[in-house]
Amino acid sequence: MDKSRLSERLAEAVQSHILQFWDELSPEEQASLAQDLQGMDLLEVNSFFQAAMQLSGSAKQEKVDNHMEPVPREVLGSVTRDRDSLQAWEEQGLRCVSQSQVAVLLLAGGQGTRLGVSYPKGMYNVGLPSHKTLFQVQAERVLKLQQLADRKHNTKCSIPWYIMTSGRTMQSTKDFFIKHGYFGLSPDNVIFFQQGMLPAMDYNGKIIMESKAKLAMAPDGNGGLYRALGSQGIVENMSSRGVKYVHVYCVDNILVKVADPAFIGFCVTKGGDCGNKVVEKTNPTEAVGVVCKVDERYQVVEYSEITLATAEKRNADGRLMFNAANVANHFFTLDFLRDVVQIYEPQLQHHVAQKKIPYVDTQGQLITPDKPNGIKMEKFVFDIFQFAKKFVVFEVLREDEFSPLKNADSQDGKDTPSTARHALLSLHHRWVLNAGGHFIDENGTRVPAIPSHVAAESSSADVNMNLKDGTDLPIKCEISPLVSYGGEGLEELVAGKEFRPTLVIDNDGVHQLVKNGV
Ligand code: UD1
Repeated sequence: MDKSRLSERLAEAVQSHILQFWDELSPEEQASLAQDLQGMDLLEVNSFFQAAMQLSGSAKQEKVDNHMEPVPREVLGSVTRDRDSLQAWEEQGLRCVSQSQVAVLLLAGGQGTRLGVSYPKGMYNVGLPSHKTLFQVQAERVLKLQQLADRKHNTKCSIPWYIMTSGRTMQSTKDFFIKHGYFGLSPDNVIFFQQGMLPAMDYNGKIIMESKAKLAMAPDGNGGLYRALGSQGIVENMSSRGVKYVHVYCVDNILVKVADPAFIGFCVTKGGDCGNKVVEKTNPTEAVGVVCKVDERYQVVEYSEITLATAEKRNADGRLMFNAANVANHFFTLDFLRDVVQIYEPQLQHHVAQKKIPYVDTQGQLITPDKPNGIKMEKFVFDIFQFAKKFVVFEVLREDEFSPLKNADSQDGKDTPSTARHALLSLHHRWVLNAGGHFIDENGTRVPAIPSHVAAESSSADVNMNLKDGTDLPIKCEISPLVSYGGEGLEELVAGKEFRPTLVIDNDGVHQLVKNGV
């Protein structure tokens, strides 16, 4: 291993500390450290650091706060206010799907730190009766939508599914898909690619070492997408398949409507090159970004970058002024993405996340800090909104479309496996009611549509938990996405019938599972 060449490069970038323990390392460790450094443009990393630090901090926050304006009505479409147009949008979207013009792109390179699991979040089982993971639920929605489009238009379409992973999640994600036979999808239509990684830096711009032989590396944010789209040939891949529209989404929302025809159709009908789905934000401190205009440009102001005073501002009608909560579902035309990759990507700035990053000190001791000691640099996926020629926003209902999995059940009870599971079961319960089905309890009495405090089929432990946090437990009812994508097609299975929870409807039929048997 040529230490002197490495030393020179590091000295030039004022990062010589990286080799402090070089002589103590085994040849394998030396080789691995050298390899990590070889693939890295250190001067570029330094410049990212300087630009990111300059743009971060309270000065920037105030500047953004003072210039924020809510999304104007004319770019908004809504599933509730625009009922008359909804069907036409859905039809338009389904037509695009049937012509294989729509791709879905999953952002799955995150580390799931808050959830506290060591594997990719998509592999998480939130405890549904079927035990399906997030990946499986999403895959089956893709399959179903292909089928719906084919039936309606007499075609044989495909929805390619691009899955962005990071160095930390790539292998396990791929292995999981292989192990599960791609959940019935054609492997040709599931395309994995990898985003970049960046080193964590201390406040003086020095790369943090997580051990004597290893740099502390982290994925470069979900906005790392745009570099990866170019460097991994994904835009060309989409182009060669005839894709025109891309639905980009985050892995953790159990209710996500992948390639949602209404959203696609709305954006296409409005001539948008860039669109975003939102739900109404009702709580000022909810950890969601808000879509708004800043200096005449659209952007999402992230929850970590808005001041409480601005987040709490209200309109005369009492609703939050900045209430367009980003649910991490984005629409882009392929033409727009191509421009982003070729022209705009280098203009995107990294955001700074202050973190407690374990490090090796100059004595070679591993230190676990108890307060932030450095930063991770991340680009955000929505930072390209500013470049859109026509930006549109689609407002949907939270209870139908948004329940993200962020935290473990042991934490504050928000966005946990339990809340995600309950959101899905509640939605499916409503689907059955809307299709004319009914639920009965163990005594054969009909359960009211709006459940009272203790719903049927809940264990006493559940009930205790339930009573403690004052929420209702949903009726346990799960409908496979292979049976229904958005509540359609259930009448023939449930109309006029009574079911005892747990009810599971899948491709094999309608099952009523015995109590505690799930
Ligand atoms: C994200 C949104 C936020 C939105 C919220 C809704 C961003 C930057 N923020 O916040 O505006 O209101 O979801 O739930 O999008 N990921 C990568 N690579 C990375 C980092 C993350 O692919 O380097 C992926 C994750 O796997 C996940 C998604 O990006 O699918 C969102 O990441 P996460 O850190 O959970 O975002 P939030 O902070 O919850």
